[in-house]
Amino acid sequence: MKAIVIIGSTRPVRVGGQIAGVVDRIRSERGVDTKVVDLSELNLPPLNEPQVPATGQYAREHTRNWAATVSGADAVVVVTPQDNDGDPSGPKTAINSLYNEWQGRLGAIISYGGRGGGMVYDQFAQVLSLVGPQLDPEGEKLFQSRDDYGENGTFTDAEAAVGAQAAEIAALVDRVIAAMSEKDGAQG
Ligand SMILES: Cc1cc2nc3c(=O)[nH]c(=O)nc-3n(C[C@H](O)[C@H](O)[C@H](O)COP(=O)(O)O)c2cc1C
Repeated sequence: MKAIVIIGSTRPVRVGGQIAGVVDRIRSERGVDTKVVDLSELNLPPLNEPQVPATGQYAREHTRNWAATVSGADAVVVVTPQDNDGDPSGPKTAINSLYNEWQGRLGAIISYGGRGGGMVYDQFAQVLSLVGPQLDPEGEKLFQSRDDYGENGTFTDAEAAVGAQAAEIAALVDRVIAAMSEKDGAQG
């Protein structure tokens, strides 16, 4: 069973990697094979494939690599900031770049923002529900405080910034692991 945790922020100075790191720490404590995928390293451009993704005909190497990463995962956790009350372009492009690969996967969304990123959460829940992953019904909305940021624009202490919500993330991780085990068992 393998999971990927996607860092949805592509900014060079960001907290998204730190939040994904907390998620990864919680997952690794449970012994699940996990890979953190950094969208800023994938360098997926706005859609530039000649064929629509639903055909599965990918002419570009970056799309083929991304398709192989998603196909190789049982579960996909998207860690996303909220930008101007909506979705940031990186995760949306990553979702739109594929189609069939999303089906049959399990999924979960962790949004973050000053008020928990509820709007981006709802937007990605809608989009992912269309393309295929069976989403964890609760997900997680992380409430950020400006007080947790240092002068360099990142969290001074990521674990402290996530704080009490780490227990909710752990519960989310446990639900996804249980769903992966159930699916694994069903497939024999
Ligand atoms: C373009 C942009 C738009 C933002 N819009 C929101 C917003 O709508 N709601 C919010 O709570 N925070 C907003 N923020 C603040 C971000 O939540 C905060 O900068 C966070 O650190 C961004 O995540 P990142 O550091 O992982 O990139 C915005 C930040 C940026 C750069």
